[in-house]
Amino acid sequence: MNLYKHPHGRVFYRKMNHGRPQISHADGIYLYDQNGKRYIDGSGGPLVVNVGHGRSEIVHAMATQAYRAAYVHALMFTSQPVEQLSAELAEVVPMTDARFFYLSSGSEVVEGAIKLARQIQQARGEGYRSGSSGRHLIIGRWQSYHGMTLGALAVSGRPGLRAPYLEMLRDMPHIAPPYAYRDPVSGTEAADRLEAAILEHGPENVAAFIAEPISGASLGAAAPPDDYWPRIRQICDRYGVLLIADEVLVGLGRTGKWWGIDHWQVQPDILVTSKGLAGGYFPLGLIAAKHDDVELIRQKFGDWNHGGTFSHHAVGCAAALATLHIIQREGLVENAARMGELMGRLLRQSLADHPNVGDIRGRGLFWGIELVQDRETKRPFPAADHLDWRIWERAFALGLVVYHSQGCADGRDGDIIMLGPPLIVDEMQVTEMVRLLTQAIKAEIGD
Ligand SMILES: Cc1ncc(COP(=O)(O)O)c(C=O)c1O
Repeated sequence: MNLYKHPHGRVFYRKMNHGRPQISHADGIYLYDQNGKRYIDGSGGPLVVNVGHGRSEIVHAMATQAYRAAYVHALMFTSQPVEQLSAELAEVVPMTDARFFYLSSGSEVVEGAIKLARQIQQARGEGYRSGSSGRHLIIGRWQSYHGMTLGALAVSGRPGLRAPYLEMLRDMPHIAPPYAYRDPVSGTEAADRLEAAILEHGPENVAAFIAEPISGASLGAAAPPDDYWPRIRQICDRYGVLLIADEVLVGLGRTGKWWGIDHWQVQPDILVTSKGLAGGYFPLGLIAAKHDDVELIRQKFGDWNHGGTFSHHAVGCAAALATLHIIQREGLVENAARMGELMGRLLRQSLADHPNVGDIRGRGLFWGIELVQDRETKRPFPAADHLDWRIWERAFALGLVVYHSQGCADGRDGDIIMLGPPLIVDEMQVTEMVRLLTQAIKAEIGD
């Protein structure tokens, strides 16, 4: 089945062999194409749209700032939205006395966090400025995704995405992630892989560990056992390794708490977030770091050796501030927790007994369904079957947009379908999404 085969004029896209309908407008959780067809935005794009489409409050805040001063260079000026947003975010990030740096995407803030970790280590006297080239490694995890730029890809754990560029990467060490469905070890055992990697490479060479607090698209909302993150924090502290929480996807209420890592009350040293930060109305990401570390860099070096033309964008920060106010005023973190419970219950009711549904997992409004050929052996479908894509297409035809990925089982095979709608959803909408997704799965692989 290929619904939209039309080639696209002079534009090229990531997926090149299928066309796409043109969206004419959007409202709440719904998108409408040029022909009037309605789609439920069941994944908010790639888990971006959190406060819904068509929020005039955000549009107004952006327009007001654009009229006042659309762009000022962060080397020379600051703006009211960037200062106010940072003051208000400091109240909700899991970090004492946080400082914020703004860029334009998830990849950029991951890239920035990697460089910030290195500079913090240098400021502490752990890097080359103390006479060695130490603390230059960032340990990542397999089955993870941190972005498309070469530095972010080097810490990511998606073999297919890394393959064409491997020779160009300064590759980084990886450990296996906690993945209860296929690797049922305790959180402590999974975390101890970090200690083993630090010892293997030498603590004096390791700057930081980066991970998604709850796995994103690569493992479809797999959460670690409760003893994982506290143990990771202990190990990082023991070896002077900085902990970077990649909250690009799971931050800002998505999983029913403000931050993914809040489920375990662990404080990272650096936190990055992006997707929902400005509600999808502006491309924006941020790096949060501890005041003491930022201050140390200021005292030692005067500057952080990093920047960007569009950093600290005033219009972007105005959009993020308005988004933050909506999340707080409408209680969307709580709604994500409540509606997420319902979504999980309904998914299990309608799909848990399906012979090809291996696992249903999630937190808040982020749920993943892992599909298998055989539930006993957990044997995945071959990647070449493109099952994830076929189900995605079925759902799309039914007017439901979901998210999908491949490679969870072994880096190549293993299909996951994900739901992650805007956090404003109500019970009826959750029920309709689960009904349509169930219909799509059954239409593609039978009852
Ligand atoms: C956890 C995580 N980190 C980083 C990124 C990269 O973000 P972006 O696509 O905005 O560059 C993503 C994107 O999916 C992500 O899920």
